[in-house]
Amino acid sequence: MASATAVTAAVSLSSTKSTSLSVPSSSFNKSFVFSHRRNVSISGKLSIVRAQVTTEAPQKVVKESKKQDEGLVTNKYKPKDPYTGMCLLNTKITGDDAPGETWHMVFSTEGLIPYREGQSIGVIPDGVDKNGKPHKLRLYSIASSALGDFGDSKTVSLCVKRLVYTNDQGEIVKGVCSNFLCDLKPGAPVKITGPVGKEMLMPKDPNATVVMLGTGTGIAPFRSFLWKMFFEKHEDYKFNGLAWLFLGVPTSSSLLYKEEFEKMKEKAPDNFRLDFAVSREQTNAKGEKMYIQTRMAEYASELWELLKKDNTFVYMCGLKGMEKGIDDIMVSLAANDGIDWLEYKRQLKKAEQWNVEVY
Ligand SMILES: Cc1cc2nc3c(=O)[nH]c(=O)nc-3n(C[C@H](O)[C@H](O)[C@H](O)COP(=O)(O)OP(=O)(O)OC[C@H]3O[C@@H](n4cnc5c(N)ncnc54)[C@H](O)[C@@H]3O)c2cc1C
Ligand SMILES: NC(=O)c1ccc[n+]([C@@H]2O[C@H](COP(=O)([O-])OP(=O)(O)OC[C@H]3O[C@@H](n4cnc5c(N)ncnc54)[C@H](OP(=O)(O)O)[C@@H]3O)[C@@H](O)[C@H]2O)c1
Repeated sequence: MASATAVTAAVSLSSTKSTSLSVPSSSFNKSFVFSHRRNVSISGKLSIVRAQVTTEAPQKVVKESKKQDEGLVTNKYKPKDPYTGMCLLNTKITGDDAPGETWHMVFSTEGLIPYREGQSIGVIPDGVDKNGKPHKLRLYSIASSALGDFGDSKTVSLCVKRLVYTNDQGEIVKGVCSNFLCDLKPGAPVKITGPVGKEMLMPKDPNATVVMLGTGTGIAPFRSFLWKMFFEKHEDYKFNGLAWLFLGVPTSSSLLYKEEFEKMKEKAPDNFRLDFAVSREQTNAKGEKMYIQTRMAEYASELWELLKKDNTFVYMCGLKGMEKGIDDIMVSLAANDGIDWLEYKRQLKKAEQWNVEVY
């Protein structure tokens, strides 16, 4: 694996705000991405942080909604009139012995898709379906911060798992859009819709505790959060809370963006915690498979204490199955305090503190 080398790109944000980017070159081919210093203008404002920090129960505190943000754009490009970007980079980021392939890809946007961290885009794959109609769009969580991997707000990145499965007839079937994307070559056009989604937007409070629970490609929105928190400098946002990432993958060769996250930990050891759950290689003390919720259970009381604070925000992304597994451990933790987890979760959701995007 390539070693992590810090590179800096300076970015000026309108006339009054400045933002800079300091990132490692890690597992995918960054010579293309981070080879030079850039000075570019970006239109659009970053959010002003007004959230309060208190230790009161979530339902009692009036907070500024992350969804009511001036400049937040949704559905700018619709399926009938998509934006056509260009693939700039596409690299496999899982090892050859990993079960399945995951690719990191960067598309040009010329700044015309003004997305926020936590949003998704739609992709319309080339070609037609079995009825001769154009394919329908598929949604993908954006894996880059709003500044993008090149730091110029002119690109959007995705983290895509190539879907290949055997059907009931024993035939090997390839997922239409994921295979289209994983096979894209630099220079190829790609039809993009969106941006969409408000559920996974970052909290505005820079002192928040942000617990991120991701399985596989569910890491995408968290890479985007973490770049903003730890690799970029924004005049009006300096993360000074705690970011705690739990990532569940099948094998160590499927660990996504590991070098980047380790670099973040080196840069901000007091503000970033990182825990992996490698399901097919690790077990807990009882010999059970190490799923993300199994790893979380090791920190159960600490996590529960964090969840009692009004500035703790939990985000979950990836496989649908993880939601129930995580609920199960929360039920028993809450019960220790005589709290009904499902009711408590409803309140957390209302306060935008429990955010789920699973598929
Ligand atoms: C909000 C959102 C964000 C998403 N973000 C990402 C992301 O960041 N990265 C990512 O990789 N994906 C993401 N997805 C999933 C993505 O949208 C696609 O669903 C995925 O890439 C598969 O699309 P496809 O066109 O390749 O497969 P399709 O051609 O659409 O085939 C999928 C269909 O194949 C069938 N199928 C799938 N697996 C099996 C199986 N094992 N056995 C039998 N039948 C099966 C099912 O009917 C399934 O509906 C996201 C989904 C949502 C809703
Ligand atoms: N926003 C979204 O909705 C969104 C975003 C990104 C991705 N996705 C979707 O999420 C899925 C991620 O798949 P992937 O192939 O990228 O992941 P992957 O590499 O296969 O990793 C998934 C990990 O989760 C484990 N797992 C399986 N069942 C689980 C359960 N019930 N609870 C907790 N962990 C469990 C797997 O373990 P084992 O395999 O060892 O059982 C594996 O370690 C894809 O279907 C993708 O399309 C959705």
